[in-house]
Amino acid sequence: MITVVIGGGTMGAGIAHLLLAGGHEVVLLDAADRLDAARGAVAKSLAKAAERGKLTAAPDELLARLAVVDRLDPTPAGLVVEAVPEDLDLKRRVLATAADACPDAVLASNTSSLSIGALAEGLPGDRVLGMHFFNPVPVQQLVELVRHDGVAPEVVAKARRWAEELGKTVIEVRDAPGFATSRLGVAVGMEAIRMLEEGVASAEDIDTGMRLGYGWPMGPLRLTDLVGLDVRLAIAEHLAAELGPRFAPPDLLRAKVAEGHLGRKTGQGFFTW
Ligand code: CAA
Repeated sequence: MITVVIGGGTMGAGIAHLLLAGGHEVVLLDAADRLDAARGAVAKSLAKAAERGKLTAAPDELLARLAVVDRLDPTPAGLVVEAVPEDLDLKRRVLATAADACPDAVLASNTSSLSIGALAEGLPGDRVLGMHFFNPVPVQQLVELVRHDGVAPEVVAKARRWAEELGKTVIEVRDAPGFATSRLGVAVGMEAIRMLEEGVASAEDIDTGMRLGYGWPMGPLRLTDLVGLDVRLAIAEHLAAELGPRFAPPDLLRAKVAEGHLGRKTGQGFFTW
């Protein structure tokens, strides 16, 4: 099956890796000046998986099924997954282009919190759903499927089947702000930052508390660094607007983002990487 992935950042590259390992032909669409970086990110992720003995084929064999392009020609794709930044208009624009170029494809968004119903406006809404992956995509077990009112049931069933064929476990969630995972993840993340602001404990000790006390693989502050402080800030602002001030982002988060300390990707967040 041909699958189109739009956006070759952390999530898009991880999704492309997963699809290649699962036997898909992948067309990865990004801006012309990002094509080398996008291909490089997929290759790096595949190399890591190979080092850990997680691939059944050599990375080069898988990469032979990857086309990295800056323009989408008409493509008989079954599935399109967009993973561009969390901007509703941008996501609508790229999905509209894909809807025309891939008339038979399911149109999935990897958004972590934006309304799928709002995203589907002006698109063939029966083909649109949320297909939310988790970082690092090849490792995390979950795919969260998000259903808005206008999606066709067979589209949800297809997305479930594809995710399961890729080895993922699926949860189905109605199109509510933050779905199931971002709402809870951001709630804990924001509270951890407020606790740091209030001097309840050090960043290291807050994280160790959740890691060793609750069995989290990494604490909420290190996880915020992994996801990106800018990404979490955008989700928190969206959830505060939709669900109320309990999601309001703490000043410390805003200050760090304003300083350009975005977490692991810039080398500095709540920790130095
Ligand atoms: N393919 C590619 N890369 C792999 C891999 C594989 N099969 N297996 C491991 N890796 C990568 C890891 O991502 C990690 O990358 P870096 O070297 O760049 O750090 C590295 O190899 C080390 O992996 P290990 O398994 O040795 O390390 P670990 O045991 O510490 O596990 C972890 C790392 C998987 C990230 C683990 O700490 C974890 O599960 N953390 C929680 C992650 C999490 O909660 N993710 C969800 C974030 S929220 C989200 O994504 C949604 C959103 O909308 C914002």
